[in-house]
Amino acid sequence: MPGGKVTMWHAILMFGGKNKEIIYPNPGFPIYESVINYTGAKAVPMILEDKTDFNVDIENLKSLINKNTSLIILNSPSNPTGGLISKIDMDKIVEILDENPHVKILSDEIYSRIVYKGNEFTSLLSYPEIRDRLIVLDGWSKTYAMTGWRIGYSVWPTKYVKMSERLNINSFSCTNTATQYAAIAAIQGPQDCVDDMNQIFERRGEMISKELNSIDGFSCNSSKGAFYVLPSIKKTGLTSDQLQDFLLYQLGITTVSGKSFGEFGEGYLRISYANSEENIKEAISRIRNFLEDNKWENAKN
Ligand SMILES: Cc1ncc(COP(=O)(O)O)c(C=O)c1O
Repeated sequence: MPGGKVTMWHAILMFGGKNKEIIYPNPGFPIYESVINYTGAKAVPMILEDKTDFNVDIENLKSLINKNTSLIILNSPSNPTGGLISKIDMDKIVEILDENPHVKILSDEIYSRIVYKGNEFTSLLSYPEIRDRLIVLDGWSKTYAMTGWRIGYSVWPTKYVKMSERLNINSFSCTNTATQYAAIAAIQGPQDCVDDMNQIFERRGEMISKELNSIDGFSCNSSKGAFYVLPSIKKTGLTSDQLQDFLLYQLGITTVSGKSFGEFGEGYLRISYANSEENIKEAISRIRNFLEDNKWENAKN
């Protein structure tokens, strides 16, 4: 696939449509909700909250499933929350899926290799009982920092491969050859660069949540994987969009409003720490300097 995104496009097109319901994480990767809506299916948010460390509320998930549910989308480690679904929770989710054999699953595992100490990544591929209705999305963008190369892969149940192949042929034909060779080189070459990158991400992740927690109005959970934190900014008194725009236009700091990740992202700000420690510290110090002379209230103007 030319990137990870294409797999979600295919899976949602296949299982979406009128009278279907698709459960997806909210806040979550924006493309899920957008494509669900495009197909005419009902987008059913599975709400993730900082007060429960962005974990899936298992009982709530159970209550969202009905006979029209065609697909559940899971994403662990998560963009934008930096959360991770534990093995214990994954077991419980699979139990629910066992009780609902009509539901297909799209597991977005694009951050599978970016997981920090004390946390363990659990792939849904390790549950043979759901293999005949599981689509796994992964790729090179994150693990090998090859975002611009546009290459990803997915694992499909045999019965859906032909459909996915048809969508490929009718849209992009194939992934470009040079990129395919680069992808082979990445997986066959030494892997210590991935571990080294993870260590750096982990250090930055710890630093950024500590620093953010010391800023008035911010409250930040620690990141378990991927390279994001999603601090709550509710106590600044600003909306996510207001704060995003203020940081960008007044202080020169790029973040993404939580609202861009769905309705339940309001009150949060997504921060990527795929940037140097030096730049992150600079950004934090600009916020501190601003706050020394002002209150967040003044940022509204
Ligand atoms: C959760 C998630 N899934 C999929 C993708 C898409 O990856 P790609 O750039 O390979 O299309 C991203 C990219 O940011 C992502 O955050």
